[in-house]
Amino acid sequence: MLREVESLPGRLSSESLFGNGKPLEIEIGSGKGLFLANAAESNPGHNFVGIEIVAKYASHAAARLARAKVENALMICGNAEPLLDGRIESSSLEAVHVYFPDPWWKKKHRKRRVLNPKSIRNISRVLKSGGRFHFWTDVLDYFEQTVELIAEISPELGVPIPEEEIEAEHDLDYRTHFERRSRKNQIPVYRVRYEQRGP
Ligand SMILES: C[S@@+](CC[C@H](N)C(=O)[O-])C[C@H]1O[C@@H](n2cnc3c(N)ncnc32)[C@H](O)[C@@H]1O
Repeated sequence: MLREVESLPGRLSSESLFGNGKPLEIEIGSGKGLFLANAAESNPGHNFVGIEIVAKYASHAAARLARAKVENALMICGNAEPLLDGRIESSSLEAVHVYFPDPWWKKKHRKRRVLNPKSIRNISRVLKSGGRFHFWTDVLDYFEQTVELIAEISPELGVPIPEEEIEAEHDLDYRTHFERRSRKNQIPVYRVRYEQRGP
């Protein structure tokens, strides 16, 4: 299913979006939706929401969910940042996933990065105790700066826990399309998970 921001309830939760109380996981920048479809299929006990700002990718991802016939996932077409800032209760999410966010290479454009001080504080705020934040990228500079930033401003996220590369068993057996592309081109991928320690 594809939801436009205007059609969303005021507060985003499993109850308001899916009508049940399952743990909720959110992905920021879902692209073509490979992660979301696989995660929803293999974790029917959780709900998954993908937020993607580019309409054609959001539609592509929603079509993938429809083909997979999953009822525990939906796509939102819109900007994740204001949703994360004002529409999600504190300590309410099981996980936030950010895979291969746009790098914005030029220094003057770095403030456009989806992982910035405000969004990191919000990610930490919305995660419940023990909730996970997964961050993977192939941009070393983005990886290092984000790890440093988290240590500085959100120590309650704990220490970065490395996540293993898993051997692909078939051509789409990757966390996301961008992971697939990087690995096929022998580009190193940096993967971490944080686990919220807060109350
Ligand atoms: C480099 S792509 C990676 C896509 C996917 N995560 C993957 O690994 O294959 C980054 C994605 O984030 C989306 N994006 C960028 N800023 C966003 C924002 N503020 N809110 C939602 N999506 C965003 C882009 O449109 C793009 O699809």
